[in-house]
Amino acid sequence: MSAIETWGEMVRVEHEQSDRMRGVRPTDTWTQFASQFKADPHRTDDAVVEELRSRMMHGETLLDVGAGGGRLALPLALTCGTVTAVEPSPSMCAVLRETAQEYGIANVSIVEAGWLEASVEPADVVLCSHVVYVIEDIGAFVRKMDRHARRMVLAIVFRSSPLSYVYGLWEQVHGETRHALPALPQFLPVLEELGISAEVTELAEQPRREFDSFEQARETIARQLYVSPGTEAMGRLERVLERALQDEGGVWSVEGAQRPRPCIVAWETGGR
Ligand SMILES: C[S@@+](CC[C@H](N)C(=O)[O-])C[C@H]1O[C@@H](n2cnc3c(N)ncnc32)[C@H](O)[C@@H]1O
Repeated sequence: MSAIETWGEMVRVEHEQSDRMRGVRPTDTWTQFASQFKADPHRTDDAVVEELRSRMMHGETLLDVGAGGGRLALPLALTCGTVTAVEPSPSMCAVLRETAQEYGIANVSIVEAGWLEASVEPADVVLCSHVVYVIEDIGAFVRKMDRHARRMVLAIVFRSSPLSYVYGLWEQVHGETRHALPALPQFLPVLEELGISAEVTELAEQPRREFDSFEQARETIARQLYVSPGTEAMGRLERVLERALQDEGGVWSVEGAQRPRPCIVAWETGGR
């Protein structure tokens, strides 16, 4: 199997398992999580924003593919030319729109569509942060980003998929191995297969996923494992969490969870 086929198969199998566990796939999978993607565009302590800023030239335009609630698009809009945010989730678009309005940021336009369906003009820089893990047709997705970048593509990808910290819990609750989504180790061979020569920069490890209480951890992790309140699976999850969660002075986390390590995968397009 080629790297592109392997990637597509990993996403397909993971989605199939998710759909089997949750019953019906909701039209907007981000409704319960979108508010977590709101961030102050004027924050000065975000190393990822500063790293991205340092790679953009004054006045350049930006296309943010899968912009979410504007965690990166909005701070970058303060220092670059226009920003086009392509985002298919209505709940994420609502957070993005509200935050832009709240901070009076007017140079961001939102295209509410998936990347492969979106009709947009090219920009100097194309950014795509923590999106690729769920994209089945990764070849077409990356090629379109490449075609729409006049100067450079910046993809931010974790070394392992964002929810890998609950994969072990999945197995204990559902009695089957969780199929992993692809991440950086599978992304680089995909680029190679597409003839793209990219440079990888490791960013600082991010904090572990932490919770304010046992109940908050249980609710969040239940949603991530597709476990509903009042079910047998919830009983199993509670028993598993009693062993798996650690409480360090009121800060709760999953024991042994790795700190996620994001990387910037960058390539110049030179208007290819
Ligand atoms: C984990 S969030 C990341 C949001 C933002 N880039 C960030 O780093 O904060 C992933 C986002 O990718 C979006 N997404 C999923 N499939 C997409 C697609 N086919 N085209 C564009 N965006 C997509 C989701 O709706 C979601 O907002």
